[in-house]
Amino acid sequence: MNFFEYRDGEMYADNVRVSEVAEQVGTPFYLYSTASLTYQFNQFKDAFGDLDLLICYAVKANTNQAVIKTLGDLGAGADVVSEGELRRALAAGIPAEKIVYSGVAKTESEMIFALENEIYQFNVESEPELYQLSEVASSLDKIADITFRVNPDVDAKTHAKISTGKSENKFGVPWTKVREICARAAELSGIKLVGLDLHIGSQITELDPFEEAFTRITGLIETLREDGHDITRLDLGGGLGIPYEGDDVPPLPREYAAMVKRVVSHLGCKIIIEPGRFLVGNAGILVSKVVYVKSGEKRKFLIIDAAMNDLVRPSMYDAYHRIDPVKESDEDSTLYDIVGPVCESGDTFATNRLVTPMKKDDLLAIRSVGAYGAVMASTYNTRKLIPEVLVKADEFAVVRPRPSYDDIIGLDQSAPWLSE
Ligand code: LLP
Repeated sequence: MNFFEYRDGEMYADNVRVSEVAEQVGTPFYLYSTASLTYQFNQFKDAFGDLDLLICYAVKANTNQAVIKTLGDLGAGADVVSEGELRRALAAGIPAEKIVYSGVAKTESEMIFALENEIYQFNVESEPELYQLSEVASSLDKIADITFRVNPDVDAKTHAKISTGKSENKFGVPWTKVREICARAAELSGIKLVGLDLHIGSQITELDPFEEAFTRITGLIETLREDGHDITRLDLGGGLGIPYEGDDVPPLPREYAAMVKRVVSHLGCKIIIEPGRFLVGNAGILVSKVVYVKSGEKRKFLIIDAAMNDLVRPSMYDAYHRIDPVKESDEDSTLYDIVGPVCESGDTFATNRLVTPMKKDDLLAIRSVGAYGAVMASTYNTRKLIPEVLVKADEFAVVRPRPSYDDIIGLDQSAPWLSE
């Protein structure tokens, strides 16, 4: 489903004209569609039918409070990877009993905060972390419900930087060592082993790697039960890909859910899923304005007012994002390199991209940026973080305002030996 459609030649988000938001908020900005968030969440949930399921939205994909709250109101829990994300999830009203805590390096103070807030479970990634958690929980007189993150040594067939389930990756406990570590966990105070979890990577566009990993973890659960452990939860992580290019066809939620049910439902475990990108990725666009059209010796450049600091995915992962004009045109498309103002050649959103002819001040929309867009932004080149806007039906609200230059520069302090 496309929630950013043209009506009378103008792009709309839900029932809001995108150019009207640009007039009021100024460019560049992120724009999220509530209709899209709702559709994606319900599509995912409905696919699982009556399976005992907790959908923990991986808030790292988009931590805006309004986005978390929108999904929370639909019933989502949260998957967090830091105290900051945990605080954000709680502040957005996600109940602690629906929050799972992942991440390879939870610190002592983060554990204390999570235990005091009585979250649902810790996804433990290593033996040292297990001992640390046992110590912290015991000292607080608490019991931490834990799953072990299994590294199943499966190739997710995605970009190397977002693949996490191979034995050479830093994540999880090698699947061959899970039995051993579970036996140790059973001896420890402050720890209750309740299940296993995994997450093999992100933007996965085939079902096979998931199925291979889920089959492996299912077998492990059966073995652990034979060993006498009371395993009641299975957390399958996130990773389901979304379409970025027109001809991308990642598996549909119902295909994914059917496979999950086929592979794991005989266990009778509570199933936890941690989707991030699937819920928010296609729900966001980045609206930017053409600053200059420059004809180079070999290329024609559209220099726009958004840059790699606002959306790093193209320069970091060579990611493809569709780019569409906000006003439709029936002129023939022409080839452009679409670049930002930052002083690096890597500040490029697209090369040799066919777009209808554009001129100074025209608006364009970079598509599918609701996940890992705003959250990965920086103020490189002392550029202000750009606003985030949420649309619902015919209303819109700025859900993160543009800071002032004083806000940014004022974060620095002088040193006592420097003169005023
Ligand atoms: N659970 C865990 C433990 C994770 O590490 C992640 C993502 C997710 C769930 C959610 O995965 P998703 O459903 O969104 O694929 N910045 C990269 C993506 C990094 C993903 C990190 N982990 C990008 O822009 O493609």
